[in-house]
This record gives sequence, C-alpha cells and structure tokens, in this order.
Amino acid sequence: MNLAALFDIMKSRRSIRRYTDQPVPGDVLHRVLEAAVWAPSAHNRQPWRFVVITEPARKQSLAQAMGQHFRVDLEADGVPGEQIEQRAQRSCQRISHAPALIMLCLSMSDMDQYPDERRQRAEWTMAVQSTALAAQNLLLAAHSVGLGVCWMCAPLFCPDVIRQELSLPGDWEAQALFTVGYPAEQCTSDREPLETKTIWY
Ligand SMILES: Cc1cc2nc3c(=O)[nH]c(=O)nc-3n(C[C@H](O)[C@H](O)[C@H](O)COP(=O)(O)O)c2cc1C
Repeated sequence: MNLAALFDIMKSRRSIRRYTDQPVPGDVLHRVLEAAVWAPSAHNRQPWRFVVITEPARKQSLAQAMGQHFRVDLEADGVPGEQIEQRAQRSCQRISHAPALIMLCLSMSDMDQYPDERRQRAEWTMAVQSTALAAQNLLLAAHSVGLGVCWMCAPLFCPDVIRQELSLPGDWEAQALFTVGYPAEQCTSDREPLETKTIWY
C-alpha cells in the first residue's frame, strides 16, 4: 500500500444515504468490523462496541422508536406539524430501509477511572476519540469493499431509546448509527483548502 492508493480510498469515499435492496453478507460486515477494531485507542483499551442489525423487524422497531423521539424534540422546538412528520418519516425510512445497521457504542469499563470530574472528562473524551477512529476505519473499509455507509448522529439525541430498543449492556453508550448497503447514488462533497485550517510555525 502506498500513499497514492490510500489517498484514493480516502478521497473517493462519500456518505451514501440510498442503497440497493441487495443484502450485505454477514462475512462482509464482519470484515468491516475487523478493520474498525484495528484503530488505535487510548491505552489500547479499545472502548468501541458494536451492535449489528439486519433483522427487518428490529430495524423497523428501532427506526420507529427513534422517529417518535425525534418528533417530540421537533415539537418542543416549535417546528410546524407538517414539517415534523416529513422529517421524522424521512429519518425513519433511512434507518428501516438500509440493508444493515451498525450501532457504534463506547464503553468506559476498561478505561481509567479518576475521582475528579476534570480528569474523568478527559478520559471519556479519549474514549470518544478512540471510538471515532474505529468509525473512520469502518467507513474506509466499507468503501473499499464497495459498500456505502452514512454516519447518523441521531443516537446521541436519544440514548435511552437506543438502550431500550437494543437492550444495551449498562456500560454501552450509543455514539452513532451507521446505515450500510450497496450504493444506489453517487455523491460529491468537497473540502475547504487545507491552508484555511492550518497554522504552521
Ligand atoms: C460526527 C458525524 C455526524 C454525522 N451525522 C450525520 C447525520 O446525522 N446525518 C447525515 O446524513 N450525515 C451525517 N454525517 C455525514 C456528514 O454529513 C458527511 O460526512 C459530510 O457532509 C461530508 O460528506 P462526505 O462524507 O460525503 O465526504 C455525519 C458525519 C460525522 C463525522
């Protein structure tokens, strides 16, 4: 593997939100998760956890429960009823129609514990950062085998719904939901010039 090949994988990956009906084989999902766990992590404690969902009834139930929570949040924001329904249904369909879902969670169970909030917060941030690195490995590995994935942040807004729907172990904290499938769209996105994001001394 050289840098050009790596760049090619990184630069051609896009968030894919529409998928064909083709199921994603279990061994392909397994391979993608194997790539995820080779991410670096703070103290090599590997705080990432995954829930893989392909059963239609489970996807539907999760999507509906998350959609219902989304409706309540939008109502509290004062969003007009018609828009609430549109947005909740779109979110619900994106989840229930994806051939596979991966719920990315983190666990603090193997991370260091501190008596004070300042250091405990830093440790939690390290777990979040480590988990996000696993996510990036997952996105790139999925892309390299022809899958499309989109990262959905919605679980951060309804952790209790996710916990209940997926019967998560007590220490698992939902971080992101990945919808996964074979792409039925081509997407473009760009990046701002590196110079606008960098200070060199
Ligand atoms: C932390 C994070 C949260 C995201 N949440 C969402 C989301 O809730 N819904 C969505 O459609 N895309 C979501 N995305 C995907 C971004 O919109 C996408 O990565 C960005 O627009 C760049 O496009 P690209 O991935 O195609 O390069 C998220 C990405 C990240 C890293």
